[in-house]
Order: sequence, then structure tokens, then C-alpha cells
Amino acid sequence: MTNDSNDTSGTATGTGPQRVAVIGPGNVGSQLVRGFARAGHQVSVGARDAAKAAELARLDGVDVLDPAAAAAAADVVVLTVPVVALAETVAGLGDLDGKVLVDATNAVGVPVPGGHPTVGAHVAGLAPTASVVKAFNTIGAEHLADGTIAGRAVFLPVAGDDRGRPAVVALAESVGFEVADLGGPEAVELVEDTARLWIHLAFRCGWGRDFGFGVLRP
Ligand SMILES: NC(=O)c1ccc[n+]([C@@H]2O[C@H](COP(=O)([O-])OP(=O)(O)OC[C@H]3O[C@@H](n4cnc5c(N)ncnc54)[C@H](OP(=O)(O)O)[C@@H]3O)[C@@H](O)[C@H]2O)c1
Repeated sequence: MTNDSNDTSGTATGTGPQRVAVIGPGNVGSQLVRGFARAGHQVSVGARDAAKAAELARLDGVDVLDPAAAAAAADVVVLTVPVVALAETVAGLGDLDGKVLVDATNAVGVPVPGGHPTVGAHVAGLAPTASVVKAFNTIGAEHLADGTIAGRAVFLPVAGDDRGRPAVVALAESVGFEVADLGGPEAVELVEDTARLWIHLAFRCGWGRDFGFGVLRP
């Protein structure tokens, strides 16, 4: 549902409401759509089956489109598809030149495609003219619509291309996360390692899914 009252003129500068596309409204994508919409962003959902996103289409500021149209309508495009589907998905998004492309995926149980050191590097290779940033992959999907747990902000690391990071940091902060800007593409591995730690604690150590990382300060 389009909300014309949103002023999205600031777009991907990192200030104010942004035009965001979420590609793949599954567990992660649907929660991010809810969080971004609640924070006042203009959200286009890229769904290959619009019927599966019917509930999201009823939210203020949210439009459900095909993936290419959703990406075209946004300055920040968030990938929330399985890692094995990244190549096909990015190829279907059309011209991503100058857009911020956020990789929210994790290679769980599958190797990183193409022998890249990180999934983020794989995505950067798929979209060389986009500004690729890694984020939103370090906590379970159910906590992505609200960056807080029990009233406290959840730590969310972000790394990737210099040009795109400010918009992604602002986007994550608008949802409520305590964001750590880790720096350039060389720090993407740290973000993916953080996700591996979360997954290890959740499933190998028996913590379950209902937790996030936090920062203690005096
Ligand atoms: N689940 C979590 O807690 C969590 C947390 C952080 C990061 N992640 C990562 O986020 C990514 C998405 O996870 P998810 O749990 O949201 O997955 P999911 O629920 O299976 O959702 C995947 C979405 O991608 C779409 N998609 C587009 N092209 C696809 C293709 N070729 N094959 C399969 N799906 C395709 C699906 O569309 P259809 O509905 O039409 O199939 C669906 O909307 C994964 O890389 C995962 O590791 C997951």
C-alpha cells in the first residue's frame, strides 16, 4: 500500500526515510519489510509470487512488485534469498548501477559460491557497479522487525563498500539496532563470522533462537 506522505527525497544519503526494496519476502525478508515500514521507509517488496506477500502488501508504505520492479523503485536493495539463489536473483534485478545492495544472507550448509572468501564478495562480483554492504544477517529472522530485545538494542555489525554503508547504518538504526560500522569490504568476513557465532550458539550450544548480541558500556 503506497504511502504518499513519506518524503523519500533523502533516499540513500542515510538521512530520513529511504526507498528500500526487499527481495525475497521469506522469513528474513518479511520481518525486514515490517521493520522498515514501521520506521517510515518506503518499501517495495520483490516477490516472485505476490500471493505469498499479500499480508505485507496491506502495510502502510509497502508495495509488492516483481523483483526487478521492486529494485527499480528503490535506492537500497536488500537481498534476502538463499545463497544458492543469489546469482539468478541479482541477474534478474536489472540495472543496479549506483544502488546500495545489501547482502543479508548466510552460507549455511552450503559453500560460498564461486570460491569467494565471503558471500559478500560473491555478491560484489555479481553486481560490480552497485555499492555492496553486508548487514541484517547476524540474528534470527524473528528479531529483525525490531532491533531491540527486552527493551535493549541488539548489536548489529555492518561492513562493505564505503559509499553505501552510511545509508545501511541509518536504516538499521531506524529499526532500533545498535549498529557497529566495521568498515570496508575487508571487514565483511567479521560480519559473516558473527552470524556463524550466533548460529553456533543457537543450534550447537542449545541456546535456541531467542537471543541477540548486545554491547555493555559503563
Ligand atoms: N532464517 C533466519 O533466521 C535467517 C537470519 C539471518 C539470515 N538468514 C539468511 O537469509 C537468507 C534467507 O533466509 P530465509 O530464512 O528468509 O529463507 P526463506 O524463508 O526460505 O525465504 C527465501 C525467500 O527467497 C525467495 N527466493 C527467490 N528466489 C529463490 C530461489 N531461486 N530459490 C529459493 N528461494 C528464492 C523465496 O521466494 P518463494 O517464497 O517464492 O520461494 C523467499 O521469499 C538465507 O541466506 C539465510 O541464511 C536467515
